[in-house]
Amino acid sequence: MNFGFDYDYNKRHDGNMNHLEHLFDNNRKWAQAVEEAHPGFFQGLASLQSPQYLWIGCSDSRVPANEIVGLKPGELFVHRNVANIVVHSDLNVLSVLQYAVEVLQVRHVIVCGHYGCGGVAAAMEDKRHGLIDNWLCHIKDIYNIHAEKIEALDSQQARSDLLCELNVMAQVNNLAQTTVIRDAWLRKQPVSLHGWIYSIQNGLLKDLGINLDMPG
Ligand code: CO
Repeated sequence: MNFGFDYDYNKRHDGNMNHLEHLFDNNRKWAQAVEEAHPGFFQGLASLQSPQYLWIGCSDSRVPANEIVGLKPGELFVHRNVANIVVHSDLNVLSVLQYAVEVLQVRHVIVCGHYGCGGVAAAMEDKRHGLIDNWLCHIKDIYNIHAEKIEALDSQQARSDLLCELNVMAQVNNLAQTTVIRDAWLRKQPVSLHGWIYSIQNGLLKDLGINLDMPG
């Protein structure tokens, strides 16, 4: 296929020792183990995905979506970004949401934050981090709304934990404002929104008790 530029991928990497071969080794072992445990697994998935859930989580490498909830490939549709933010005008998250709700017909959309989120911590600092500061402004806004409640807490840990939770709740509310969710509810499509938080310390999820359903 011609992408309009002169780049022979194979040639470019020929003789280059930095092939990340161990990742390909891991992949072959993984594919083989899955196929042995569930013969025909990949063949079955290749023709169809029908996940029940859309997961909107943090990019953090310590929060692997499928593993946390014990779901196999094909069972969880996933969007991740720094600090699991649902920005009203972010075409990326909106496209994922629209496809998940309208095409895949997921029943549940889960925003899952995590304690110790680096994005949330950075948003609480008075330091420059580069381009990402523009993204983190969304969390600063949440901080400002709840500043009194957050600043009443006596440890940085507690303040950060609370902001991680408030961030998830704000993002669930943002989801409910999207045209995708509002339209789904207007046509009586059952899709529920949930706000959860994950602890890197013990691997456990907590339901933050913000579960939004079709009104009426
Ligand atoms: Co994070």
